[in-house]
Amino acid sequence: MLERIVAPSLLAADFACLGDQVAECEAAGARWFHFDVMDGHYVPNLSIGIPVLRSLRAVTSSFLDVHLMIDNPEIFLEPFADAGADLITIHQEVSTHLHRDVHEIRRLGKKAGVAINPSTAASAIAEVLPFVDLVLVMTVNPGFGGQTFIHAAARKATQVRAMADDLGLAHLHVEVDGGVGPDTAPVAARAGADVLVAGSSVFRGPGTIGQNYEAIRRVLEAGT
Ligand code: DX5
Ligand code: ZN
Repeated sequence: MLERIVAPSLLAADFACLGDQVAECEAAGARWFHFDVMDGHYVPNLSIGIPVLRSLRAVTSSFLDVHLMIDNPEIFLEPFADAGADLITIHQEVSTHLHRDVHEIRRLGKKAGVAINPSTAASAIAEVLPFVDLVLVMTVNPGFGGQTFIHAAARKATQVRAMADDLGLAHLHVEVDGGVGPDTAPVAARAGADVLVAGSSVFRGPGTIGQNYEAIRRVLEAGT
C-alpha cells in the first residue's frame, strides 16, 4: 500500500509570505505541496501561475504538484515543467486529446496526473490510466478553496483504485482535493486515496499551520 501523503494546498496560503508558510509546513513534516492554477475561463476564479511556481522552486526541494484548472492546458505544459513542477495534472473535461497530453507531460520528464470533477464518471479516465501517475478526484467543484466536501464524489476514489488494481498499477496515486480536513481526511483515505490535499484546514485552521497539518496526519494515523 502507498504511504499516505497530506499535501497542503497553497491556494489558501498567505501569498505575501508564501516561502515562510511552505517552510512552516515542511517543519511539520510536509514534503508535497499542491499548487492550484486557475484561468478565469475553465473555472470562475484566478490564482497563481508560472512566475510564482518558479520562485517557489528556488526555495524548496519538496514535491510540487501542479493542478491546472485551465482551458487549453497543452499550451502550458512546457512552461510549467520548466518552472519546476514535479507533477502536472490536467482535467479530463478540458483536454481535447488527453492521451497526447499525458504523454507530453511524461516526455517533459514530469509525472502526469488527470483530474475528474464531481460530475465526471471514473470510467472517463479508464483509457489513460496506464499512462498516468496520479488520478485527482475532485471532492468540490473546482475554482475555490473552503468549500464543503462532497461525499458522493469521494466514492470514486474507490472505483479508481479498483480500476488501477485490475491493471496491476500498484503505484498509481489517487488524490482527493477539496474540503479535506481532520473530519473528512479519514473518509477520503478509507475510500482509497493516498494523497490528501488540504488547503483551508491547514492554512486557516484553528491552530498554527504546523499544528493544523499535524492534526490531519494524526487522525489518519489513528485509524483508517
Ligand atoms: C479547488 C482547488 C483545491 C483547493 C482546496 O478548486 O483545486 O486544491 O485549494 O481547498 P480546500 O482544502 O480549502 O477545500
Ligand atoms: Zn487543486
